[in-house]
Amino acid sequence: MHRVVAPAGRVVYHGRMVKEVTRTVLATLCAVMLAPVAAAAFHESGVASCAGCHVMHGSVDGQFVPATGGGLLLGGTASDTCLRCHAAYGQYTAGEGFGPGGDFYWLTRTWTWSTPGGLLQTSPGFSHGHDVVAPAYGLFGDAVRTIAPGGDFPSRDLGCTSCHDPHGNAQFRLLYGAGAGPAVTGGRYAFAAAAPAARGNGPVTIPGRPDSGDETDSRHTVFGSGTSSWCANCHGLYHEASGSQDFSHPADRTLGSARATQYNRYVSTEQPTAGVQATAFWGLVPYEAATVDLSIVDPSDYTLGPSTADRVMCLSCHRAHASPFRAAGRWDFDVALIADSHPQPTDGGASASDVARKYYSYVFVPTQDSLCHKCHREIPGGGSRLIPARR
Ligand code: HEC
Ligand code: HEC
Ligand code: HEC
Ligand code: HEC
Ligand code: HEC
Ligand code: HEC
Repeated sequence: MHRVVAPAGRVVYHGRMVKEVTRTVLATLCAVMLAPVAAAAFHESGVASCAGCHVMHGSVDGQFVPATGGGLLLGGTASDTCLRCHAAYGQYTAGEGFGPGGDFYWLTRTWTWSTPGGLLQTSPGFSHGHDVVAPAYGLFGDAVRTIAPGGDFPSRDLGCTSCHDPHGNAQFRLLYGAGAGPAVTGGRYAFAAAAPAARGNGPVTIPGRPDSGDETDSRHTVFGSGTSSWCANCHGLYHEASGSQDFSHPADRTLGSARATQYNRYVSTEQPTAGVQATAFWGLVPYEAATVDLSIVDPSDYTLGPSTADRVMCLSCHRAHASPFRAAGRWDFDVALIADSHPQPTDGGASASDVARKYYSYVFVPTQDSLCHKCHREIPGGGSRLIPARR
């Protein structure tokens, strides 16, 4: 059996799978390509799944050999290839995807409005999250940032496979762990930290679909540990880095008794102290449950609020993919009242469904103020810091 030839400077990290590709298997693959791809366990079905992403004609001596690292993909770029299936699952579905990661559709939507004083405001699509490069789907990468804020991962190489391993692994959501890391132009980008320990629901995130993993207060990812250090592979502990950021906040810190108590009792602006721990969890403001047993936890029914050892993390405030709001915020960081969040019905660029979908299926009291209050009765340093400075 021949080994696949690794392009210069690249690591064949999935060498085991590659070695197993024989002439016989390739023949089978050609047959598989003609059949519709099975809807279940696609990423676990080993060699049989190669044809779900790769054009299988580039074989030498019975071995599949890609022309370049990203060559011979069915979809052009890596992300175009993923979206051939995942666009319809809710990762790029007109804002209909209410997934924990979020719908990349929001990157294509720019909101504009005028302040009462007549000042033109804009919330550009590229600022709504991770600008994966998928030209066939109208996603062309970040228009402004050339590297990850706080780090140096190049924006031009950002795609689904910058975070998820296309060849599968045993981690949460196939995320890359410590090691050689994702492909970038000319090599691999080393990750120092392991993948987060967490458990989630199904990858289809459109409400109403069978087994939909759309996020609600009871059905949501249950995070255990390591989320912030994983994001830090590309960003550092962003808001903890001294001096350079507008908004300073601990990114990987225990809640302690003050924050845990506040989280558990807070129901809304109108009921700031009526809550109990058993039903306190908000899908919109998750935290890491430090002592949870992920092997038995049910992420489709988890309502327990935090205890003091649980932790605030990057995804307490951000979505991993994208959102309708600046900086992939889980809520609009720039308004004092949730009801004032953009897109508003009168905004340029906003359709009625955009407005209806911006907060998934979550419902708020009319006076609901910033969701920072889920953890803070008052914001340390005073109200002016509640809404961080807009760039
Ligand atoms: C879910 C989609 C997907 C599946 C399934 C898949 N690949 Fe890939 N493969 C990719 C992408 C995307 C790249 C480009 C590199 C990247 O973005 O990480 C790639 C790159 C490669 C490379 C170049 C080396 C590298 O890792 O960059 C080889 C070799 C390869 N794939 C072989 C295979 C084989 C053999 C199978 C079946 C066992 C397979 N792939 C299944 C998406 C996939
Ligand atoms: C041929 C269709 C198809 C393509 C192409 C495809 N996927 Fe998937 N993906 C699926 C299916 C089906 C599932 C659910 C079953 C499974 O996990 O294997 C899934 C699940 C996932 C999950 C969730 C896994 C989990 O542990 O919950 C991630 C993450 C994912 N895919 C990423 C990707 C990425 C990244 C690419 C592109 C490199 C890609 N997929 C390409 C069909 C596809
Ligand atoms: C593989 C590297 C990589 C990883 C891992 C990564 N990011 Fe990023 N991130 C980037 C790059 C590159 C940019 C700049 C390009 C852009 O904004 O699309 C960025 C931008 C951002 C932005 C600004 C988005 C905007 O449009 O204003 C936020 C917020 C962010 N990342 C948060 C996170 C969080 C939270 C995690 C962990 C769940 C994470 N990132 C993991 C590479 C990464
Ligand atoms: C910056 C890193 C990053 C990028 C880029 C990224 N993902 Fe994810 N993805 C994650 C993380 C982290 C989660 C878990 C989010 C959570 O549970 O809150 C996730 C969740 C998912 C899920 C589970 C369902 C959901 O929507 O939450 C799927 C499927 C998925 N990603 C596919 C994709 C596809 C397809 C792309 C490219 C179009 C992509 N991802 C790009 C980090 C990333
Ligand atoms: C308590 C909430 C919170 C947590 C936790 C948090 N962020 Fe943020 N993040 C924000 C807010 C608010 C902004 C917008 C601040 C601003 O305008 O400067 C932001 C902005 C960003 C930006 C965009 C900066 C830009 O140039 O526009 C990045 C990147 C980012 N955060 C990454 C991270 C990462 C990585 C983590 C975890 C290590 C993290 N954040 C944790 C609230 C948070
Ligand atoms: C999931 C809980 C959680 C959320 C949500 C949250 N915080 Fe915090 N925040 C903490 C924890 C934990 C600390 C650490 C100190 C403490 O317990 O007071 C903290 C500390 C702070 C501090 C003091 C920072 C310092 O460097 O001393 C400020 C200011 C702050 N938060 C503002 C905010 C703002 C603004 C938001 C909304 C954008 C927010 N927080 C959302 C948990 C949270």
